[in-house]
Order: sequence, then C-alpha cells, then structure tokens
Amino acid sequence: MPSYLESATEIAREAGELLLQYLEKRPAIEIKGEQDLVTEADRASEALIVGRLQQYFPSHSVVAEEGSGQDRKSEYCWYVDPLDGTTNFAHSYPAFCVSIGLEHRGELIAGVVYDPSRNELFSAEKGAGAYCNNRRIRVSKTASISESLLATGFPSRKRHEDVNVYFFHQLGVKAHGIRRSGSAAIDLAYVASGRQDGFWEFGLNAWDIAAGLVLVSEAGGAYSDMKGEPLHLNSPHLIADNGLLHEEFLASVGAVFEGRIHTPIPGLTPGAPVRY
Ligand code: IPD
Ligand code: CA
Ligand code: CA
Repeated sequence: MPSYLESATEIAREAGELLLQYLEKRPAIEIKGEQDLVTEADRASEALIVGRLQQYFPSHSVVAEEGSGQDRKSEYCWYVDPLDGTTNFAHSYPAFCVSIGLEHRGELIAGVVYDPSRNELFSAEKGAGAYCNNRRIRVSKTASISESLLATGFPSRKRHEDVNVYFFHQLGVKAHGIRRSGSAAIDLAYVASGRQDGFWEFGLNAWDIAAGLVLVSEAGGAYSDMKGEPLHLNSPHLIADNGLLHEEFLASVGAVFEGRIHTPIPGLTPGAPVRY
C-alpha cells in the first residue's frame, strides 16, 4: 500500500497537469468576494484531489478550500488547496501550485506542493527530510535580515483593512529584497529550498500553509506567528524562515507592531501631494 506521501504526490501531480490543461483554455474568472477570484480549474482540481483522497482514505477528514471536503471526525485530516495562486493562474502568470498537507492528531506529518509550470514537486514527511523532485532540500544559511531575500503576500479579502504595507516597507528598507509570488504555498516551499530566507503573511488559511509548514520544518527552518507564539493552522499571521533569522525577523516585525518605525513611508499625508 502506498504511503500517505506517495499518495499525495501522485494526486498532486495529476491535479497539476489538470491545471495546465485548463490554463491553455483560459477559463472564465468568477469573483468569490471583493477581489477574491475562482475559476473552473479550482473546482476541477479540487474534485480530482478530494475524490481521490476519499477513495484511498475513506475514513479521513478533508478540508478543502472550495468546500467539497468532509469532516469524518478522523484523527487524520487532509488540508487541500487545489490551486494556490488563483489570481496568477487567471492571468496566465506561471506561479501557482497544488498544495496538500496531512495532519494527524493535531500534528502536521506530510506535505506536497506541486508547481506544474516548473515541474517542481516539493515533498516532506515528518522525520524524513524535505525534497524537490527527489533531491534533498535545506533552508538557507543567511544569518541577517540585511543579507536576506524575503517574501510576503497580501490578502484578497478586506484589502482596505490590510496593514501589511507597513511591514513591507520597514523590511524592504533592510533586506536585499522582498518578493510577492502570489502563492503562499510556493513561498513556503522556497523558504524550505533556500531560495528565499524568510516569509511572512497575515490572514492565511489552513489549506494555504499546511503542506508548506512540513516542508519548512523538515528542511531545517522555523516558524511561529508574527508575535513569536506557536503557530496554529488558524493563526492570524505567520513567519517562516531558515531559523537563523527568526529572532531578528520577530524583532523587526515586533517593532512595527509597536509603532517603532525606523523609516517612515514618505509623503503619505492625506490631501498632500506625494513628493519623490
Ligand atoms: C492566495 C495565495 C496568495 C496569498 C493569499 C491567498 P489562493 O491563495 O496564497 O499568495 O497572498 O492570501 O489567499 O486564493 O490563490 O488560493
Ligand atoms: Ca491559497
Ligand atoms: Ca486556492
């Protein structure tokens, strides 16, 4: 019988290929709410993944973004994002993936993130290390924010309430650069593989992060919420990094939370012209 990780790998690859077929057809964009997009491809990918998980593991619970999962009160729960990066996908921007994570008794034990555009399959199982296309991956060795490449994301929902631009500005002044891929699962996979040194974001959901967190911890990284508290799948914010940066990263975002801004955003007084 295939392991949980082998099953998730097989399913994620198939779902990823399905996404590429839909990409060719440029599926119509629908709006779930505000600027939160969904397409036929999100639903087709979810139907494939959830159907297959229920076939292989009929007693397990499944939580899936588009709502087709089932709570079977199992010790095992799969978290499925059938298409992470829908906005990119809807614009044919090749940064999207399938994300499948497995939790057992509240502990994350396996995760797969598959990026079909690059044919990169990131996978990890608790205690067995993290891999990209069967090659072992590890977090970076960057030891200071001033030498780091960081990443973040911005929520689709309630954008008018989003405060992340302050964190973006403060960290952007210090770091080598800040990337915004539009796929939180890819961001976590890139922290795990050392392509990015750290990632933070507000308001993510369990299906965005379950798989990526297994990758980060199995690749030797660290994560918590942005205040340094243990991360839960429903925490309001998260920081994930190579572990070496964690304290400095927390101190940097902690300063912003407390209003200790080292470099104010220039020219942002309501009614006054922006100077540059
Ligand atoms: C989104 C992506 C994006 C993040 C958003 C998520 P979706 O997921 O992960 O990077 O910034 O907060 O909602 O909607 O494309 O599955
Ligand atoms: Ca997502
Ligand atoms: Ca999604």
